[in-house]
Amino acid sequence: MKTQVCIIGGGPSGLLLSQLLHKRGIDSTVLERQTKDYVLTRIRAGVLERGFVALMREAGVVERLDAEGFVHDGTLVSFGDTMFRVDFTKHAGHHVTVYGQTEVTRDLYAAREAANGKIEFNVEDVVINGADTDAPFITYTVAGEERRIACDYIAGCDGFHGVSRPTIPADVRKEYEKVYPFGWLGILSKTPPVNHELIYSRSERGFALCSMRNENLSRYYIQCSLDDKVDDWSDEAFWDELKRRIPREQADKLVTGPSIEKSIAPLRSFVTEPMRWGRLFLCGDAAHIVPPTGAKGLNTAASDIHYLYNGLRQFYEDGSPEGLDTYSEKALARVWKTERFSWWFSSLMHSFPDQTEFDVKMQIAEIEFLRTNEAAQKAMAENYVGLPY
Ligand code: FAD
Ligand code: PHB
Repeated sequence: MKTQVCIIGGGPSGLLLSQLLHKRGIDSTVLERQTKDYVLTRIRAGVLERGFVALMREAGVVERLDAEGFVHDGTLVSFGDTMFRVDFTKHAGHHVTVYGQTEVTRDLYAAREAANGKIEFNVEDVVINGADTDAPFITYTVAGEERRIACDYIAGCDGFHGVSRPTIPADVRKEYEKVYPFGWLGILSKTPPVNHELIYSRSERGFALCSMRNENLSRYYIQCSLDDKVDDWSDEAFWDELKRRIPREQADKLVTGPSIEKSIAPLRSFVTEPMRWGRLFLCGDAAHIVPPTGAKGLNTAASDIHYLYNGLRQFYEDGSPEGLDTYSEKALARVWKTERFSWWFSSLMHSFPDQTEFDVKMQIAEIEFLRTNEAAQKAMAENYVGLPY
């Protein structure tokens, strides 16, 4: 078998790249370890930057996103009972769109299937061969049968635990990591959101986030201990704790109900450099992770896809390798700024087990500065809606 671009991983990064390339007549094959249903039941991100929406438009997969996505012009930030709004449109001239990663992935699968795109599910033992030569090829097995696919380029879109990153020799790769001493316990419930915009809340008991998917589907998170297990948290215990962490007037109007999904995610900042090795390009979670506080994980994956797609397009349409040669540098320049924002917002909004009373006072002073200072709000708004590509 032969393809122009072999894409490892059928998550949002891989699917978006494959659909964008298809629109330009560039052939690709996607190899996904899981089943489609498995990929579609993972509840993850919910907030899309304008750049992400623009890419979905370019990919021709924007009909349902336009019809069902919710435009958010701002967000609320609270500390104790004090709450204030950061206005994105006023300060940054853009909004964000609330539309779940699950829906993005569903729409992209539908588009790939409608175009007879090549996606192989349940692939095992994926090995990237000769990425540093002019003739790379991928070997893998499906239902015990060995297969081999030759390609011009490989896009490593296989997430944090994939095979692409470790394919880059250890002496070429440099990894930077910060692990946070807590996780997020998240639930999804068929209840109306407590507020029409998100609320990021810092309380003495730890961080909480009120988010949503639609008018009758809410997503809430609370900071939890890394030792906690999902089964330790009954729905009732979750709602009680959430109410203690958000401003009283919000807690009083919170509608609770049974959870339909409950999970714990650890928080991590991670970047690997470079993001290219020979003909292998890393994209999305395969190359970097951010703590979810700034809603940047999926959005940063999309900016990588923007750079790689344009590099490949330039190569296949004009014969110029320039975009591919500068991929790692351009992607990393934006990745590090997004890492900074996610680290800053996470550091501001969580309780840290080892923090001193002075550290807490610094957090409060910084939140108070954000509340009262237009320049600080502008900086936050510009980052939240997404830095330009
Ligand atoms: P992934 O979505 O991880 O997709 C990678 C794909 O590759 C997967 O389908 C996987 O099955 C496949 N794969 C892996 N290994 C192989 C292999 N060897 N061969 C073939 N296929 C392989 N971001 C936010 O902005 N907000 C959130 O609330 C949020 N919550 C999150 C919760 C969790 C538990 C996690 C893990 C992430 C969360 N994120 C969130 C981050 C966001 O979901 C990711 O940044 C986004 O999914 C990245 O997309 P991706 O396509 O790069 O990687
Ligand atoms: C979500 O809705 O899942 C969500 C929203 C904003 C974040 C993180 C997660 O910062």
